Amino acid sequence: MIRLDKFLCEAGAGTRSEVKTMIKRGRVSVDGVTARSADLKIEEGKSEVCLDNALLSRIGTVYYMVHKPAGVVTATKDTREKTVLDLMRGAPGKDLFPVGRLDKDTEGLLLVTNDGALAHRLLSPKKHVDKTYYVLTRDVVTKKMCRLLEQGVDIGDEKPTLPAVARKLADCEKGLLLTIQEGRFHQVKRMLAAVDNEVVYLKRVSMGPLRLEDSLEKGMWRPLTEKEKKDLGV
Ligand code: URA
Repeated sequence: MIRLDKFLCEAGAGTRSEVKTMIKRGRVSVDGVTARSADLKIEEGKSEVCLDNALLSRIGTVYYMVHKPAGVVTATKDTREKTVLDLMRGAPGKDLFPVGRLDKDTEGLLLVTNDGALAHRLLSPKKHVDKTYYVLTRDVVTKKMCRLLEQGVDIGDEKPTLPAVARKLADCEKGLLLTIQEGRFHQVKRMLAAVDNEVVYLKRVSMGPLRLEDSLEKGMWRPLTEKEKKDLGV
């Protein structure tokens, strides 16, 4: 058994005095009941403790889906640019970081967490986690381009890109959905350049089992649902 305020601190929700205030304000619930006392004893690994309705993991890991807008850099800190973490002020959790990078002008799905093991699993080149991008292009996307992208193209690295899935958009001839299993620097832009086209708009819509929620507006974030966490194996 552990005191509720100690648990909340360990889960990265804030300092001892901050979590006491959270409890006083009714932001914390234990097994679905709003907690009123910081010295409430809770059972580690059994009690479900929520802050603002988001379940806090016992070991302090937290998981967020972020809809990155263009103009924001995928970093925790930057002296000049606005970062993804700047968008998330007040999000509970210690040592948050984005899993993988999106270019400054790329929009879409980012996972932000403090679970290093999960980040490693998702980013390891050996794991081949699928990432799907909605891509708008300068020129019409042809069947030939899709075929080449699917086979793998030379983007100037040691090896060509791994097999991908490229589907022309039904409603727009200058666009495609591209699923890649790697995460090389500027990979999608370089792949389109390799087939004599150019990316004019790029948005990541999924990463592994995680799909960007349609109703999550640009610049907004939310904790992952229990189902999403389960699908990620956490
Ligand atoms: N590929 C790119 O070129 N840019 C991104 O931001 C992500 C994938």
